[in-house]
Amino acid sequence: MSRTSVLDAPATTALRMDEVVLTYPDGDGRITAVDHVSCVIDRGRSLAVTGPSGSGKSSLLAVAATLTRPDSGHVWLSTRAGEVDLAEVGASRAAELRRAEIGIVFQQSNLVESLTAREQLEAMAWLGGRPSRARRTEVRERADELLERVGLGGMAGRSVGALSGGQRQRVAVARALVNRPSLLLADEPTSALDTESGATVIDLLLRTAREFDVALMLVTHDEAVARRCETRVRLVDGAVSAE
Ligand SMILES: Nc1ncnc2c1ncn2[C@@H]1O[C@H](COP(=O)(O)OP(=O)(O)OP(=O)(O)O)[C@@H](O)[C@H]1O
Ligand SMILES: [Mg+2]
Repeated sequence: MSRTSVLDAPATTALRMDEVVLTYPDGDGRITAVDHVSCVIDRGRSLAVTGPSGSGKSSLLAVAATLTRPDSGHVWLSTRAGEVDLAEVGASRAAELRRAEIGIVFQQSNLVESLTAREQLEAMAWLGGRPSRARRTEVRERADELLERVGLGGMAGRSVGALSGGQRQRVAVARALVNRPSLLLADEPTSALDTESGATVIDLLLRTAREFDVALMLVTHDEAVARRCETRVRLVDGAVSAE
């Protein structure tokens, strides 16, 4: 399919969260971290999640990431094999979905110091078991293409210990895209970076969401960044608040 036909086609929903509630144990009771939140992200589009500290942004992202199961509500993810409710899947299916359909970028890039940039990406292909030779070749090509796309084409063979914070975070973005996810989640991905490399990483996330037709959920404290996303939810005390 050409880019033009993708852009002309009506947007397809990648993620639909419906009345999601998440609570944590708190002393004798429970604290509500996510309070009946609903939102939608289309493929190729971005949703900014903003709100004060403790408002539930990371908790919401953790639900979309299948890292936490909500108490109630639905989290519909459009996958290659059809719609899946992430609120209902078991642990092993969740792990499979994180591998195949969901890319995650955290505040810290969580890279393996001893591996090269290319190996960080290749390692993703090994998580589901030893890949075939053909698959290994394909993954290597994909890794190099992605590193090129994030501006690190010349650094594929460098160990990540030798990369700057901004470069490492760009490797993390490339790694999140290796398995062609339909959903990309980023939780304050630039908070540990200086302004300039932070801006590069944000540009990269917004651009890759469009170019790879991935839905992006971006948790940010930065108004200017939030304004660059097509849609936004602002959380206060776990609930969506009007602007
Ligand atoms: N594992 C946990 N156990 C208990 N309470 C938690 C846990 N994680 C988060 N919370 C509580 O849930 C609420 C939402 O936290 P969350 O981390 O989602 O907020 P946030 O908006 O991401 O904040 P920040 O901007 O500081 O990252 C807070 O009251 C927090 O204390
Ligand atoms: Mg947080």
